[in-house]
Amino acid sequence: MAISDFDLVLFGGSGDLAMRKLLPAMYARDYCQDLPDSARIICVGRNDWSQEQFLQTVEASAKPHIKETPVDEHWQRFLQRIVYVPINASDVSTYGKLADTLRRDPAITLVYYLATPPSLFATICDNLKATGLATPNSRVVLEKPLGRDLESAKQINAEVGKVFAESQIYRIDHYLGKETVQNLLALRFGNILFEPLWRREWISDVQITIAEKIGVGNRLGYYDTSGALRDMLQNHLLQLLCIVAMEPPTSISPDAVRDSKLQVLRSLKRFTPTTLSQNIVRGQYRAGYVDGKPVPGYREEPDAPKQSKTETFVALKAEIDTWRWAGVPFYLRTGKRMSDRLAEIVVRFKQIPHSIFNQPTSSFQPNSLVIRLQPDEGLSLNLMAKTPGDSMRLKQAELELDFREQFKAPRMEAYERLLLDVLRGQLTLFMRGDELEAAWEWVEPILDHWDQDDNSPLPYASGTWGPAASSALIGRDGLQWREESLPED
Ligand code: BG6
Repeated sequence: MAISDFDLVLFGGSGDLAMRKLLPAMYARDYCQDLPDSARIICVGRNDWSQEQFLQTVEASAKPHIKETPVDEHWQRFLQRIVYVPINASDVSTYGKLADTLRRDPAITLVYYLATPPSLFATICDNLKATGLATPNSRVVLEKPLGRDLESAKQINAEVGKVFAESQIYRIDHYLGKETVQNLLALRFGNILFEPLWRREWISDVQITIAEKIGVGNRLGYYDTSGALRDMLQNHLLQLLCIVAMEPPTSISPDAVRDSKLQVLRSLKRFTPTTLSQNIVRGQYRAGYVDGKPVPGYREEPDAPKQSKTETFVALKAEIDTWRWAGVPFYLRTGKRMSDRLAEIVVRFKQIPHSIFNQPTSSFQPNSLVIRLQPDEGLSLNLMAKTPGDSMRLKQAELELDFREQFKAPRMEAYERLLLDVLRGQLTLFMRGDELEAAWEWVEPILDHWDQDDNSPLPYASGTWGPAASSALIGRDGLQWREESLPED
């Protein structure tokens, strides 16, 4: 679907996200000729810079994040789309400059992307309304963190909702823009093969892991008040869980998909005092080695509080109280400074009921489907197969689908896809307000429990898979995290 002419306004336009992700993503789409000739990107920032000074910043801070160094001709064309407007987002009297810059033609799509701290969302929306810039067909994009608990999330929804209708609000979770997440929808609902097996009768457990090698980097100020639960689990991991577990939506339309996801969030088994202490592990990285290089512990990171209790790792066992999933554990895990960078979903099927071969049932690896989001994108289906030779010995074998190899098409980064969807008015890959609240509602008892807990998160050495308690969590159910069950190289 072609994109019609637009003015995309980036609040936080000189900030880190704009430089690292948003402008490079827009450049990539411009390079692929997805953007209309006269479309513009209007970067709004507090700095009283001239257009020229701003473009120098873009050159220095955004250009290095573009995958393939741009050819000068394309880059210059891209820069011509950018307009810098210095305004103070909190001060309505400065919005006149923005109003003068925007093209006020109903045929031109107006998008306001709020890449700012959430504390500014309400003020910006009010100021857009007061200056007549929040038109009925404009759109607003909200970046995480979308609240830090249920109450603040509700407040954001209410305040933004006073100015924009739900159909105008695009809440970003960049994991939903990843290629494999959409491939998971294709796999589940574009094939007959999996759906009959996709239930408690045949699936033993599901593991969802997002592991990062990086530490907190230069985001300590934000991260220390957030932690892994708010930063990764409440949003990215729960969204992945929803896509794995949801009932078939009636169509791919935004509300059909979002209704199905909401049903999953509302069916998550609530934690009890016992499960809060038994089914959740929080950790914090200590010094260690990542890729053979020494790295400092979280509390030694620049500006880190020496007694910080912020978790950089969380693993938990969730359950979904529905006919389809009752009793199937969903293990979710995320951490920084882990042994490897990977994001994957592992769906493990049940053991065969009986072996007809001369080997015991226990020697059969249960089938598993591994859906890889990162670092490469693909699927592998683990099956038992006969080994070559004259004896009937069965061993695990892999059916592998590498999306890059298979389709040989250029990849799109998550932000590229999501920005295009905003510009096209396509809401399917964005969270609805009630989903956001349902996710916080489920997570909040964990936050409360930790607030009242005097213990610190469990330490783990950088470059490992987290505290030993994480293996014990899944081990109690007689299971292992996938990397623990793989044969040694
Ligand atoms: C962000 C988190 O939402 O996701 C970061 O705030 C994290 O802490 C990042 O590093 C991970 O995203 P990706 O796409 O690199 O896995």
